Amino acid sequence: MGIVTGASRGIGAVFADKLGQLRPDLDEIWCVSRSYNDDSSSEDSERSRSQGPRLRHLRLDQSDDDFGDKTRNYVERHHATIVYLILNAAYANYGDVKTQDFSQADQMIQTNIRGTVAAVYSLNDLFEKNGHIILVSSISAVAPTPGLAVYTASKAFIRHWGISLREELKPNGVTVTICYPGKVKTTALRDVVKQAKSVKLRLMPEQNLNYLVVRTLRAAEVGRAEVAPGLYGLVMILFKAVPTRMLARFGRLV
Ligand SMILES: NC(=O)c1ccc[n+]([C@@H]2O[C@H](COP(=O)([O-])OP(=O)(O)OC[C@H]3O[C@@H](n4cnc5c(N)ncnc54)[C@H](OP(=O)(O)O)[C@@H]3O)[C@@H](O)[C@H]2O)c1
Repeated sequence: MGIVTGASRGIGAVFADKLGQLRPDLDEIWCVSRSYNDDSSSEDSERSRSQGPRLRHLRLDQSDDDFGDKTRNYVERHHATIVYLILNAAYANYGDVKTQDFSQADQMIQTNIRGTVAAVYSLNDLFEKNGHIILVSSISAVAPTPGLAVYTASKAFIRHWGISLREELKPNGVTVTICYPGKVKTTALRDVVKQAKSVKLRLMPEQNLNYLVVRTLRAAEVGRAEVAPGLYGLVMILFKAVPTRMLARFGRLV
């Protein structure tokens, strides 16, 4: 089976859909978000599809202390083994250290870092051979951005950790692929654009959501370590060539 966190909308919803098309051999795809119905009813709300895996909706909060344990309990209760774990859910909030409430920064750390790491620690022995983990980072992982400092640092954490994790899980036959989206039209992006009132962000070209997801799944299938599809792949190469402090100085989203 496959698990996709943050599958209720945006990039995660497309991951769940495309994974079903690419891997019709999977029994089920478990879609995780906070906004599904309460646990018990959502666990039963399997939606039959004409072909391909059934979708199961799980209401879980990735920022909760027991997110990893709860997810493992579900998997064990269903005697399931994991072929795909797509850790996509994340939270972004615009604001700097002087203006942002710490609770917002904490929510980003809990969701983007702690919850993601907890899932892998809790589930790593439940994978099938030839299993795949996709970690959704961001091109901002290589571009520290004042105003989005904690968010971009959380994405840099995922990148750094994911590269080591890939080596740690190699002996288990599980591949780790890190995905770097650029600018994708989603609720999260709309919220950040609204909060930052950033002309720069508004003017950046949008990346096609289906293209991003399909390219990422194909990269995972062949065991690639990192994937930054299209124009934003070039942007990322450029970012890596510029000194980080310079990126931060000119990266302010105004
Ligand atoms: N959009 C972009 O331009 C862009 C660029 C670079 C990277 N990314 C990355 O791509 C990923 C998806 O972003 P998106 O733009 O699709 O975001 P989105 O539209 O805001 O969707 C986020 C998803 O995550 C879920 N989620 C958020 N907090 C959660 C929590 N604590 N527990 C469980 N689920 C939670 C949301 O559902 P609920 O709120 O219902 O829980 C939703 O399904 C993120 O990792 C983001 O950092 C996006």
